[in-house]
Amino acid sequence: MTEKILEVEDLYFKYEDGTEALRGITLAIERGKKTILLGANGAGKSTLFLHFNGVYRPERGVVRFQGEPVKYNNAFLKKLRKNVGIVFQDPDTQLFSANVFQEISFGPLNLGLSQEEARQRVEQAMAETGITHLRDRPTHLLSYGEKKRVAIADILAMQPEVIIFDEPTAWLDPASHRQVVALLEDINRQGRTLVLSTHDVDLAYSWADYIIVLKEGRVVGEGTPEIIFRNDTLLETAGLAKPWLVEVYDQLLHKGWIRETEQLPRSKEELFHVLGHRKTVSFA
Ligand SMILES: Nc1ncnc2c1ncn2[C@@H]1O[C@H](COP(=O)(O)OP(=O)(O)O)[C@@H](O)[C@H]1O
Ligand SMILES: [Mg+2]
Repeated sequence: MTEKILEVEDLYFKYEDGTEALRGITLAIERGKKTILLGANGAGKSTLFLHFNGVYRPERGVVRFQGEPVKYNNAFLKKLRKNVGIVFQDPDTQLFSANVFQEISFGPLNLGLSQEEARQRVEQAMAETGITHLRDRPTHLLSYGEKKRVAIADILAMQPEVIIFDEPTAWLDPASHRQVVALLEDINRQGRTLVLSTHDVDLAYSWADYIIVLKEGRVVGEGTPEIIFRNDTLLETAGLAKPWLVEVYDQLLHKGWIRETEQLPRSKEELFHVLGHRKTVSFA
């Protein structure tokens, strides 16, 4: 049975300058799944995320955590933020302590854990993100990719039920990109619910269990990656390109070099597999 861990219903939010960032959003995030919010810049992804942990209060509509409507008092917000962690897009807005160890300790100590419990969580988070060797380094002197991993370790050490990643692969070089994607996979395998925003269609296509497409503060489509990326009208409406894997697959199909497979290839390896069976398929 699936459980909706986070839900928003008919959510509206306007910034002080009058910008209508969210215009009636209804969606649900399922426990244990990898959900992607896909949308161009300005679609409302970051604004929505700040409603998930109660930093912003909706102008209209409801946010629910584990079925319970969010209340905007200290006790509820403390519980919510312990369970819904956000890794911000720019690590410089998140990191503020002098060195890496202190930075990652801040959250667990703030939760009221003992020094020893906090230390264990920090060690574990550093090991998972591969930054143990950076423990005594000043955070402000790290490379962008290293800062990103410290920002992720920060949130892991809090052990939240849901981790939200706001454009986690933006501005990363290819090696750091691969590292972060592998890390996201590991974190999800431990049973955590992940929600990620991006406009990277290749990442969304290969990584997500479920995709919700946003445009100008509204949900314009949702479904599995196959459903989303087979819908040309939706992609055009949302200003999104096709993932390269789907483009290549469509071309091969169009030219009659392969036969339609039951499922679209979701990785380079799966596409090669389809190509590997080309002869048997086309002469069968
Ligand atoms: N602090 C702010 N003040 C006014 N408008 C904002 C602010 N932050 C974002 N916006 C506007 O709200 C809309 C949604 O922005 P945002 O949630 O940042 O989108 P995304 O994360 O999808 O790029 C955009 O039109 C953006 O310009
Ligand atoms: Mg954003």
